[in-house]
Parts: sequence; structure tokens; C-alpha cells
Amino acid sequence: MTVPAFGVGTFRLKEQVVIDSVKNALEVGYRAIDTAQIYGNEAEVGQAIRESGIAREELYVTTKVWVDKLNKNDLIPSLKESLEKLDMDYVDLTLVHWPGPGTDIAEYMPELLKAKELGLTKEIGVSNFTIALLKEAGDAIGMEHIATNQVELSPYLQNRKLAQFMQEQGVQLTSYMTLAYGKVLKDETIIAIANERGATAAQVTLAWALQKGFAIIPSSTKRENLESNLKAAELILTQEEMTRIDALDCNSREANSESLAPEWD
Ligand SMILES: NC(=O)c1ccc[n+]([C@@H]2O[C@H](COP(=O)([O-])OP(=O)(O)OC[C@H]3O[C@@H](n4cnc5c(N)ncnc54)[C@H](OP(=O)(O)O)[C@@H]3O)[C@@H](O)[C@H]2O)c1
Repeated sequence: MTVPAFGVGTFRLKEQVVIDSVKNALEVGYRAIDTAQIYGNEAEVGQAIRESGIAREELYVTTKVWVDKLNKNDLIPSLKESLEKLDMDYVDLTLVHWPGPGTDIAEYMPELLKAKELGLTKEIGVSNFTIALLKEAGDAIGMEHIATNQVELSPYLQNRKLAQFMQEQGVQLTSYMTLAYGKVLKDETIIAIANERGATAAQVTLAWALQKGFAIIPSSTKRENLESNLKAAELILTQEEMTRIDALDCNSREANSESLAPEWD
């Protein structure tokens, strides 16, 4: 799997807040950063990276193409625009942000592959794709070209059918909103495990996702949270602890855009 296991997210973060968050993340050791055209922060992410002084080749930068650009005419120009904002020659990963209505997988996936062949992006993938949509994307360009499907996955939304299918296909699952935007940090079971292990609830949650084999991209505006979250990689949960967290699944979704969401698995 080529997608780094641990990155930092930037959804909702704008202007100086995103600059500070990305700079702090880089300083405490993150090397993968997740942005998107629709977040309106690519220029600030690029600025933070530039100011960090870290060599471009040490970093793994992901952006996502918004739904209105998922066609033959607009996809590549929009990615070039993202690169200009980021002030980079290439991104490491470009994702289709949402499958969206009124778009044609058979039209835009080959265009995304072309972007890779042109060197604008090292890898390509999708986000918010169901099993059926992922199959369609695989049929369009070959599943071997799809580096990841980034989907919402947390202890409260474990997405088991999709995760199983992706494992069979050899496609990395990237979990977004692994902390359910903070909700799971108030969970009694997770807090109990955290207390037993002398860890934070966030570390326990992130360790659970890492141990399941998912890549994660938790976000934070606070340096101390960014730093302690990263230490989740050192926490190894027991099988019993994993099973207790597995039991928390309640199909509770945070990101459910009425206009964009497919029929979830
Ligand atoms: N592909 C997609 O459609 C999609 C959709 C949503 C998100 N994403 C990506 O996934 C990333 C992660 O999702 P997210 O940012 O929405 O949610 P998240 O990572 O589940 O949760 C972030 C929230 O958790 C809090 N938090 C983080 N670490 C904490 C800690 N150690 N202790 C207490 N609170 C903590 C943060 O608050 P503080 O700032 O106060 O720490 C923030 O409010 C996004 O930033 C974005 O890059 C992708």
C-alpha cells in the first residue's frame, strides 16, 4: 500500500488556522496532508508547506477534484489550478471527492488516469465510493490504478462490507472522520480503554483504525492534539480491546450530503 498510514486532515480549516495547523503538524512529524479543491485552502496548505522548509519529496500531498470538474474538459485544468494554488509541480494523490449526480465514471476516470500519466499526480483514487461505484471505477481504468477509496469510517460507522470488498481488491481504505468529528471521544467504552492504558480517547480510536489496516487523516487546530494523536501509532491494542471497540458500530454517519451521497452499502 502506498498511501501513508498517518496523515493530517484540513477540512473546515481556513486562512491562518489552516496555515498554523499544517505547520504544527509538519513540525511534530506528520508528512502526509489531505486537502481538497472545495476546502478553499489549497493556497494556504501550499504556503504552510513552503514555509516549513521540508523538501517536497519528503511529503505526501493529497487533493480532491470537486464534482463540477468531473468531466473530460474540466478535470485536468482544475488539477493544474490546484497545483498552481499549492505551488507544486505534482500532488502525490488526486481523489474524486464525491461520485456526485450527473457525472459519468466512464468519462472522468480515464481522464484522471491521464492526469497521472501526465505527471500531475503520482497516484489516483476515489472518495465516498460504494462497492458498486468502485467496481465501475475499476471497470473503467483497472482496479490496480486505484490507490485508495477515502470514506467515512469510525467506531460508530465501521463500513464492514465495503472494507471487506476493498481488502479483497487490494485497494487501501482511508478512513476520514475517524474520530466522528470528536463524538467518539465521549464514548464510555473508549474512555475506559484509554484510562486502562494511560492513553487518550483519540489515541485509542486512531490505534483501533490503524490496527484494522486503514490509513487515517485526523485533523486538529491544536498542536498538542496533533502531537498526541500521532503517538497512536505506538499504541497496540489487545484483541479484547479491539473487540470492545468493534461492538460500538451503530451506523452513525456524520458526512451525508443529500445532494451528493450515493446509496450507501
Ligand atoms: N473525502 C471526504 O469527503 C471527507 C469528508 C470529511 C473529512 N475528510 C478529511 O478527513 C479529515 C478528518 O475529518 P474531520 O477533520 O472532519 O474529523 P475528525 O478528524 O474525525 O475530527 C476532528 C475533530 O476532532 C477534534 N480532535 C482531534 N484530535 C483531538 C484530540 N486529541 N482530543 C480532542 N479532540 C480532538 C478536533 O478538534 P480540535 O481542533 O479542537 O483538536 C476536531 O474538532 C478532514 O480534515 C478531511 O481532510 C474527507
